[in-house]
Amino acid sequence: MILTIGNTKGGVGKTTLAVQLAIARALAGRDVWLIDGDRQGTATAAIAARAEAERQPGIACAQYPDGPTLRGQVQQQRGKFDDIIIDAGGRDSTALRAALVLSDVLLVPFAPRSYDVWALDDMAALVDEARSVRDGLRAFAVLNLADAGEHSADNAEAAAAVADVPQFEYLPTPIRRRKAFSNAGGAGLAVAELAPRDPKACGELDALFSAVFNIQITA
Ligand SMILES: Nc1ncnc2c1ncn2[C@@H]1O[C@H](COP(=O)(O)OP(=O)(O)O)[C@@H](O)[C@H]1O
Ligand SMILES: [Mg+2]
Repeated sequence: MILTIGNTKGGVGKTTLAVQLAIARALAGRDVWLIDGDRQGTATAAIAARAEAERQPGIACAQYPDGPTLRGQVQQQRGKFDDIIIDAGGRDSTALRAALVLSDVLLVPFAPRSYDVWALDDMAALVDEARSVRDGLRAFAVLNLADAGEHSADNAEAAAAVADVPQFEYLPTPIRRRKAFSNAGGAGLAVAELAPRDPKACGELDALFSAVFNIQITA
């Protein structure tokens, strides 16, 4: 599967979720390639920290903030990997546009505040553009940085707002704001590898992982 985690808005957890899903997929025995499509190189730095700590499995990681380079590399190398996970973002990012045309699945993390929900409209336009080039892109929105309360009105509101954007399906596996996610991400660790283990963070990530990698794709 080629999975892009993208949002034109920053700070919504693209890198955090890309790193978590890539490591979890590698721990499940798959050959994974993580592509950092962001000039800031946050995902690259996390994977470098993982390598520095000699954590196994190591994760193949490359940084292609330039869209045409990303496209060319993925087209050339895709046969070597079971899964490619692309961390792409930025309003003016050519990497995001290139990634969408190549991807089977787009996952858009957003935070439960109205501004972020509106940013889905930006992403919806990009999804339309990608689908005009290549059929079959499946697009999902998932809450990240959700409130800890199980029945938060904010979370329910955000879910309802996704229903107003027909380009997206809502993935009902929210990730909540937890220190385990920020601590693990920076160190290049899966939450399951972090000590002490946060069982709630692990459970949320497992649920997201299962939902994403069980999505039926056409390609
Ligand atoms: N679920 C979460 N719980 C706690 N902190 C989070 C969570 N998701 C992201 N963060 C933190 O929020 C900040 C922005 O996340 P990041 O993944 O870098 O966003 P983006 O890549 O979309 O800009 C980082 O400091 C990250 O550690
Ligand atoms: Mg990022």
